[in-house]
Amino acid sequence: LLTLASGAALANYPEKPVNIVVPFSAGGPTDKVARDLAEALRKPLGATIVIENVGGAGGTLGATKVAKAAPDGYTLLLHHIGMATSPALYRNMQYKTLDDFEYLGLINEVPMTLIAKPSMPANSYAELAKWLDANKGKVNLGNAGLGSASHLCGLLYQSTIKIDMTTVPYKGTGPAMTDLLGGQIDLMCDQTTNTTSQIEGGKVKAYAVTSSKRLTAPALAKLPTLDEMGLKGFSVNIWHGVYAPKGTPKPVLEKLAAALKVALADADFHKRQEALGAVIVTDNRVNGAEHKKFVESEINKWGPIIKAAGQYAD
Ligand code: MLT
Repeated sequence: LLTLASGAALANYPEKPVNIVVPFSAGGPTDKVARDLAEALRKPLGATIVIENVGGAGGTLGATKVAKAAPDGYTLLLHHIGMATSPALYRNMQYKTLDDFEYLGLINEVPMTLIAKPSMPANSYAELAKWLDANKGKVNLGNAGLGSASHLCGLLYQSTIKIDMTTVPYKGTGPAMTDLLGGQIDLMCDQTTNTTSQIEGGKVKAYAVTSSKRLTAPALAKLPTLDEMGLKGFSVNIWHGVYAPKGTPKPVLEKLAAALKVALADADFHKRQEALGAVIVTDNRVNGAEHKKFVESEINKWGPIIKAAGQYAD
């Protein structure tokens, strides 16, 4: 009887709302990608999609929740490069990135911007570099905790310019941005999905982008790359992917993968994301197997870099 019931359940999936866990606060870049994606996914999946923000510990709390959730297709994770950086930062993580998830598609890649509080007395990257040098030991850098994209960028930036800063962790760069706007923190490296509107509105000071090439979005096109500013080879791009708990049945994964493919082709989704500097993935990493291989290569790439920078969470 059980197999009959589960067979019917599989065939009728989804029969109730699907929960997408975002491992950071509402209003931040990860949340924005998730809500944009949910908008495009609702119809092809044929389900109501509920976004659940589970912040903390650089995204590892939310990822743990999904790793331990029932593998029934009703709890998914939308996460990012933190899937690859957290293993080097947390010695007793509650999940194994490559073993405890079924990999659905990679969604997009998002560059980052180096921004400062509105009162920062520097109007170019060169002036910012001088200010940072003159204020060594007094600079407060905001991020979303160890394992977050803003943490990774900040870590690389500090080790490249050899200036250590006090990092102030938040449950997401949504709340961190509030404190930057208020001047409680000085500096942050955050994704364009969160910073473009603030830069356009002149609400923050913006100095550079972390991509290897300048960006085309009008509000960002005038920003130099950090590589141009002398940080040779500096390049950080934040990718986002979708994950389900290990053991989610194949028919469910196939329905999710097919719906994701339709969502990624949605013109409005492209428009919303591209206006914020994001690039939708169109290569074979939209398939789970290649997405997983890519994450494995990212774990191998960032692990040694993070260890060399010598920061651990516990
Ligand atoms: C990050 O730095 O990882 C993200 O900006 C966190 C967030 O989405 O708030």
